[in-house]
Amino acid sequence: MNRPNRKTRITSAVASRFTRPFVKWALLLVALAAGGFLVAASGIVSIKASSGHWPITKWFLRFGMHRSFATHSLGVTRPPLDDPHLVLKGATHYDFGCRSCHGSPGTRAPRIAQGMTPPAPDLRPLIAEWSPEALFTLVKHGVKFTGMPAWPSQQRDDEVWAMVAFLQELPALDAAAYQRLVQASPTENATITALEPSALTPPVASVVNRMCVNCHGHDGLGRGSSAFPKLAGQRREYLLNTLLAYADGSRHSGIMQPVAAGLSEEIARALADHYSRLPASVSQSGDPPPDPRLLELGREIAHEGVPERRIPACIECHGPIGRRTKPAYPLLTKQRTDYLVLQLELFQRGQRGGSAYAHLMEHVAPQLSPEQIRAVALYFESAPRTPRPAEP
Ligand code: HEC
Ligand code: HEC
Ligand code: HEC
Repeated sequence: MNRPNRKTRITSAVASRFTRPFVKWALLLVALAAGGFLVAASGIVSIKASSGHWPITKWFLRFGMHRSFATHSLGVTRPPLDDPHLVLKGATHYDFGCRSCHGSPGTRAPRIAQGMTPPAPDLRPLIAEWSPEALFTLVKHGVKFTGMPAWPSQQRDDEVWAMVAFLQELPALDAAAYQRLVQASPTENATITALEPSALTPPVASVVNRMCVNCHGHDGLGRGSSAFPKLAGQRREYLLNTLLAYADGSRHSGIMQPVAAGLSEEIARALADHYSRLPASVSQSGDPPPDPRLLELGREIAHEGVPERRIPACIECHGPIGRRTKPAYPLLTKQRTDYLVLQLELFQRGQRGGSAYAHLMEHVAPQLSPEQIRAVALYFESAPRTPRPAEP
């Protein structure tokens, strides 16, 4: 039998001197975990929302939340946020999706959201505590273990930035200024009179007035802002397919998905019918006239495509009259330039989604340069809309 030699004895003594404290700590941790489990199992800890948090818990959670969003927003870069169209887009979605919890200037705190722990706070005094980058991360991802939800579509950072742009303005808004942002007036930018209300059945009229006009305008022309696409005079089948695509999440938008998901197919059909019958815009945008060189480049792309990059002519599919056009393909004439640019950029990044026909754009958009995108969008906004063939 071999007896351990002196070297082995020394090594095992050193080893046990180091392992003994670890064993002690491990035992302590196991005891704590078991204790914690017993406390939870006994049910004596109150998780009643009605009992609120102790001040120290409140302080600690807030500290943790600030630190977490500061760290997780490292590497986020903000786009310019002083664009009024971005603020308007954020404001209207705030009214639709956030006001029910956070309230709005000039109204009392919503009673139901006050029953949450933590309660959904009035945001106005709190915005200054956050950098725009941290706000972006918070609004995009929501806050775990509170009622604060994530943005409904994780693909649409541009929409989250629109919300951040609005939140920067919110502390300075009084009730009247808030209402001007979130409520379309019947005469605002209206160039033509909409169909008489009697043309709509009462349930559809109620949806239009409650849910659509504040963003898309009473005339369906988007309140004169590139924040919202024009719907008036768009093809019925495209409008319907699009509403259904938003509703099932195959077209990505944190703004339109919650709206569309709440509509029955019957109402969606009636809405598509309504907007397709509204007269299309005849006026030009109030923007300065575009550079004629860009406009000519846009006309070429729209009518001839870019043969060396194998891009087909847009009007082949987008019409109004083209060899491959279908009722399910959208008209682009008179649509807002900035909206068209945004959609083309989303197609390029694979973030737009869309109806079952959206794959047709996958071969088109990625081939276009930023200059070609702007040029063709400018062309379509200013192009005349020739009479289109009657729809079935
Ligand atoms: C279902 C209710 C609910 C909705 C809807 C909601 N929030 Fe919240 N939000 C909360 C709650 C609860 C908190 C508090 C989190 C905390 O303090 O830990 C919160 C916190 C916040 C904060 C951090 C404020 C601070 O400093 O404590 C911001 C900013 C915010 N929400 C913005 C929004 C925006 C923008 C929307 C709409 C897109 C929205 N919230 C929709 C419940 C909601
Ligand atoms: C809070 C503002 C808001 C509300 C409310 C709203 N929309 Fe929209 N809508 C938008 C925005 C912003 C877009 C562009 C979304 C995108 O980038 O995909 C849009 C896009 C659309 C499109 C796609 C247009 C196109 O050319 O592809 C349709 C159709 C539409 N909305 C219909 C409706 C209808 C019908 C209602 C009412 C039931 C409604 N919207 C309510 C803001 C709104
Ligand atoms: C092969 C047919 C086809 C061609 C060619 C084509 N498109 Fe499209 N495009 C579509 C279809 C279909 C859609 C609708 C996708 C959906 O239903 O979601 C679309 C959607 C779009 C949209 C989004 C419209 C909106 O309201 O959201 C833009 C912008 C667009 N196309 C621009 C272009 C441009 C610019 C060109 C030419 C460079 C072009 N398209 C060529 C079929 C085509």
